[in-house]
Parts: sequence; structure tokens; C-alpha cells
Amino acid sequence: MDSHKQLFILLCLSLVLVLLSGLQVEASRHIKHHPSKQLFVFGDSYVDTGNTPKSKPGSWKQPYGITFPGKPAGRFSDGRVLTDFIAKYLGLRSPIPHKFRNVVPKNYFKYGMNFAYGGTGVFDTSTSGPNVTTQINSFNQLVQENVYTQSDITKSIAYVSVAGNDYNHYLATNGSIQGFPSFIASVVKQTATNLVQLQKLGFKRIVVGALQPLGCLPQTTAQNSFKSCNSTFNDLVVLHNNLLDQSVTKLNQEANGYTTFVILDIFESFRSVLNNPSRHNIKERLKPCCFGVSSQYNCGSVDENNVKKYSVCENPESTFFWDRLHPTQAGWNAVYNELKIKSLHQILY
Ligand SMILES: *[C@@H]1O[C@H](CO)[C@@H](O)[C@H](O)[C@H]1NC(C)=O
Ligand SMILES: *[C@@H]1O[C@H](CO)[C@@H](O)[C@H](O)[C@H]1NC(C)=O
Ligand SMILES: *[C@@H]1O[C@H](CO)[C@@H](O)[C@H](O)[C@H]1NC(C)=O
Repeated sequence: MDSHKQLFILLCLSLVLVLLSGLQVEASRHIKHHPSKQLFVFGDSYVDTGNTPKSKPGSWKQPYGITFPGKPAGRFSDGRVLTDFIAKYLGLRSPIPHKFRNVVPKNYFKYGMNFAYGGTGVFDTSTSGPNVTTQINSFNQLVQENVYTQSDITKSIAYVSVAGNDYNHYLATNGSIQGFPSFIASVVKQTATNLVQLQKLGFKRIVVGALQPLGCLPQTTAQNSFKSCNSTFNDLVVLHNNLLDQSVTKLNQEANGYTTFVILDIFESFRSVLNNPSRHNIKERLKPCCFGVSSQYNCGSVDENNVKKYSVCENPESTFFWDRLHPTQAGWNAVYNELKIKSLHQILY
């Protein structure tokens, strides 16, 4: 072998070694950064990634999931939802839905678990789904079975989404705007009770979503052909969020540093995206991508002959709302981009 060849082989070998050690540094840095953190998710359709049964309208029906994963897969959107973006931020895979715990390999459990269920609230709503208390009890059941340990819980993050089903149910059954303020107070009080329930189970980092501007959801703005948000509803949402703020401040004072409660301000994020949609390449602000051909139908409705009773826009990637209640994947991505620097990091580092 001539010395040129030897030199060349030596160079190649050292290059491989340098690359390998680089990878190792990368891997250990990654582990250090995220010490086997897990995410546990409770709440409603804003974070449900599959718990709602296939028989129910929405998440498991065409055309849900057309953007990701390309077919209906249990999310109330054309693609990824808030949970997926929170998990991504934490450097985790999106936690598996509780419903699938007996069918997926156990190593999927290490990212946490998602107990959220579309249509539910802190109180019972018209869906037969489990309210937040019951979802937390299901989690506790797994702790009793030693599926998750106290040390898992200590390192983990709990996320609670309360996105307004209690209010939809209230409006559908009681209807009176006058009774609203006192009902809001009881929803926030029950939310705080649920946060304390999580604290007692040993969570040290508990995140709750602020309520998004309900007056901007297509179910409300349909009234004025999706032209403008309804300020009556948004004022009530501000009341909810102010009470939530007070509650969380009090919980933090009482926890005295042992537990941190954080509000994820999706209200502000929705607002900034909707006020400045072009910054996020959103062209359609309030009109949903997928909606029923008449008011009796919703996105995903079919008639008795299985004929579609909805239409879908051509560009979900530049439309904020997917259906009458839920953002598109692009919408969530925009909301996430507004959020990420401001909120979550304070509980992570
Ligand atoms: C939650 O659901 C359980 C079981 O259905 C019920 O007993 C409980 O009263 C509900 N909690 C609230 C706060 O509504
Ligand atoms: C709704 O109305 C029913 C019947 O009038 C009443 O029993 C219930 O307390 C009301 N709920 C709320 C949250 O105000
Ligand atoms: C908001 O919606 C309520 C209830 O549908 C309606 O009575 C009210 O006129 C609306 N307000 C605005 C500002 O559009």
C-alpha cells in the first residue's frame, strides 16, 4: 500500500470518528435537555387525538385528517391539533390516546398519555364522554396499577384544555345570557378543583389553557356570514380568563413553589393570529374550511344514502378554522408559533 492510500484511509477513519462522537454529544445533550419528561393531557376536542369513539360525528369521519395523517384518525381538524404542537415543543411524541392503551406496545407509554375526549367539559355536557374529573380518575387508575410511578409524575407535565363545551351546553339548555356570569364562576371554580386534583396526584407542572375567543368561532360568526367576531361572547370569555387568572395566582401562592401552575394563553394567540393573519400565511380568517351545506349539517355529515352534506375548501393550509369550532392544522401551527416563546418555557427551565 503506498503512503497516499494509507493517509487517505486514516483521514476517512478519523472523519468517521469525529462524526460518531458528534452524534453522541448530540444524543446526550438531547437526553439532558428532556429528562424523561412525559405529557398527560385532559380535556376536550382541542386536544383529543383519538379517544372519541368512531361512531360519533367528527374526528373519525371523512374529511377529518385529510392533511395529516391523510385520513380520519381521531383528531378534530384536518391534521395536527394543540396537543401535537405542545408535545413537539417538549421534544416528545404526541402521547397515545388512553383508548389505545391495550393495543399499542408498552414503550408508547413513555411519552405520557392523552385522556381528552371531544365535547366534554369540567361538568357533564350533552356528550356521553367523561368529564375532566373522570378523565383524571382514569389516569389515577393507571397509577394504582403501577403503569406510571410517582417519579414519572413528578417529572411530567399535565395539560388541561377547557375550551367551552360547558358554555355550549349551558346555552343549549339554559340559554340565558344573564345567568352567564355566575355559571362562568362555577366553571372556573370546578377547573381549579381539577387542577388541585392533579396537584394531589403529584404533578409539579400543571398547565391549563385559557379560553379562546368563543365569539370568533364560526359557530358564532355564521350569524353575520363570518364577517366579524361577536363581542358579547368575547366579553364573557374575558371574564372567564380573568377569573382563571385569579384562581391560578392563588393556587401558585398556596403551592409555595412546590407546584407550578401556568396558563397557556391561547386567547391572546388566537387574537394575534386573527388580527394579523397574513403574518402566518393565513388568507381565510373566520370562514371555516369545512361546513355543512345547510345549518342542519356539519362538516363530515352524510345523509341516509351516504351522500356528502358538506363542502371542503381547496386550501386548508391558508385557512384558520377547519369546522365550526376547531382550527385547521395551519391554524394551530400559527397559534403555537404565537405561544411558544412566551408561555411554556417558564415551567420547563
Ligand atoms: C363527572 O362525572 C361523574 C361520572 O359521571 C359524575 O359523578 C360527576 O358528578 C361529574 N363531575 C362534575 C363536576 O360534574
Ligand atoms: C339550568 O336550568 C335548570 C332548569 O331550569 C336548572 O336546574 C339548572 O341549575 C340551570 N343550570 C345552570 C348552570 O344555571
Ligand atoms: C352576539 O350574539 C348574540 C347571541 O346570538 C346576539 O344576541 C348579539 O346580537 C350578538 N352581538 C353582536 C355584537 O354581534
